[in-house]
Amino acid sequence: MRTHYCGLVDETLIGQSVTLCGWADVARNLGGVCFIDLRDHEGIVQIVAEPDQGEVFDVAAQVGYEYCLRISGTVRARHAVNDKLRSGKVEVVATQIEILNKADTLPFYMHETPGEEARLTYRYLDLRRPEMQRMQRTRIALVQALRRWLDARGFQDIETPILTKATPEGARDFLVPARMHEGEFYALPQSPQLFKQILMVAGFDRYYQIARCFRDEALRADRQLEFTQLDMEFAWVDEATVQGTTEELIRHVFKEVIGVELADPFPRMTWHEAMRRFGSDKPDLRIALELVDVAELVRECEFKVFTDAAGQDDGRVAALRIPGGARLSRKQIDEYAAHAAKYGAKGLAYAKLGEDGAINSPIQKFFPEDAFAALLAHCGAQNGDIVFFGAGAFGVVSDFMGALRLKAGKDFELVESSWRPLWVTDFPMFEWDAEENRHVALHHPFTAPAVDDIAELKANAKTAVSRGYDMVLNGNEIGGGSIRIHRSDMQSAVFELLGIDEEEAQAKFGFLLDALRFGAPPHGGVAFGIDRIAALMAGTESIRDVIPFPKTTTAQCLMTGAPSPIPDAQLAELHVRVREKE
Ligand code: AMO
Ligand code: AMP
Repeated sequence: MRTHYCGLVDETLIGQSVTLCGWADVARNLGGVCFIDLRDHEGIVQIVAEPDQGEVFDVAAQVGYEYCLRISGTVRARHAVNDKLRSGKVEVVATQIEILNKADTLPFYMHETPGEEARLTYRYLDLRRPEMQRMQRTRIALVQALRRWLDARGFQDIETPILTKATPEGARDFLVPARMHEGEFYALPQSPQLFKQILMVAGFDRYYQIARCFRDEALRADRQLEFTQLDMEFAWVDEATVQGTTEELIRHVFKEVIGVELADPFPRMTWHEAMRRFGSDKPDLRIALELVDVAELVRECEFKVFTDAAGQDDGRVAALRIPGGARLSRKQIDEYAAHAAKYGAKGLAYAKLGEDGAINSPIQKFFPEDAFAALLAHCGAQNGDIVFFGAGAFGVVSDFMGALRLKAGKDFELVESSWRPLWVTDFPMFEWDAEENRHVALHHPFTAPAVDDIAELKANAKTAVSRGYDMVLNGNEIGGGSIRIHRSDMQSAVFELLGIDEEEAQAKFGFLLDALRFGAPPHGGVAFGIDRIAALMAGTESIRDVIPFPKTTTAQCLMTGAPSPIPDAQLAELHVRVREKE
């Protein structure tokens, strides 16, 4: 149908005849002459139809937005050069224009970013926009680069089931009723975790898979119900090999896909240090602000909120200094407090240090004069700064002070434009779930503890450290993994500590416990969030932009209308009855 791509017609073709296919990006009838911007996946070229060309001009005059056209013509140099286009030095004088298909009036103007609802309803039009084409191509290039690197290094791409048994990664499962087994269900995998471990037991040594994962959890800009991991597992390894190999891979793909050089090696930081300094287990190192612990300096003050937190084992009193922050108005400070409250803050104390050195703070009255000035000095406060204070439980204070740090970084334009990867290591093994009154795994229940001894682990479960690690880039968790438990007795002990009794462990994970009994080698691995990495590479905030057909934040596909009701007959076959809403 065509001899060339629209976007690739350039001055080397001047004088030649070409036939092009594409959409009418713009069609202008200037009376004397018709201009059509013809667009395909490679870009745009300008078509000209002049009135003395008779029928060609008449057809050109009928063309509307997004009509499908096939145009033959001659390439010539253009008077008004457009530097933004590869084809900007030339135009094609049409000798024939064929309308292959018309387009109805479009639901939105293709040259502006349409509203989210329209974009997802008419996703094929949204995806047709050059910006979206660019972002999909970034993702495609990422996956190609990952595969090439892994294939060249002996990693084996092995598929694992989609209809399977629940693998817990901390979210709800999607379930599929089993027609042939009344009352029973398959679960869609939250990750291929157990299968990849079993592949190591089965002797495959180095595995990878570009794996779709399903998690029924609240959607956000960086979360979808189904998303894609680069899933990897290695046998006979420790942390150093997994981290060293995979960071080399990530460095390689950033260089290849977007020409960015990441640090070599990536810095490593323990979970505890990350929480202390940045109030986050995925610190954005582009922002130079750090939290300062001040419990020691407030112990003697008369503010009960501070002294209580300072006196508790699990308490924290932390300060965040914002250079130039004294210019924040009362209203803006309230906005910071409201932001902190979203992350669990019960209040947010502050101290402004005016340009003249005068202190303005609602909590100064609780301190002897020298002590308060010393406290501010300890935080590094200078004239013109503000210092925020948070007090309470370690986790809560870290969370809301970390959130303030990010907000201040943005508001005060302190986010450096750079790429700052790191590994966060030494995560706590367990987190206490006050609601359920039991430990839950911080990574997943198959993560090895740092100690090898079961009795020691049981004695110090609260403070136990795991062999889990996350890869973080510019404040995004782009990957997570661990060295796994490879002994059946240790796995049983960890289940027990998680409040999973023997019967439940056997019912849910009996196959894993069995596999670990038959010569399971030490193994470990990691999974990277491909959607998140692609979004970072493409320079977009939302992973929806790099997923061709994503769900809305209300978990729907607006294009197809999924999810949708199922006829009773089909439900009956699946032994399922929908309950009336109460
Ligand atoms: P984890 O749960 O940390 O680990 O997931 C690995 C990476 O997948 C990405 N990710 C997501 N991306 C989009 N939407 C989601 N809902 C979503 N959830 C996670 C993140 C995350 O870092 N089996 C383990 C890995 C292992 O231990 O090897 C796992 O799935 O970038
Ligand atoms: P009050 O004397 O109750 O008005 O509190 C003095 C200041 O302490 C106010 O600015 C409160 O927002 C702040 N505050 C209260 N609770 C906390 C907390 N847990 N952490 C930090 N500041 C707090």
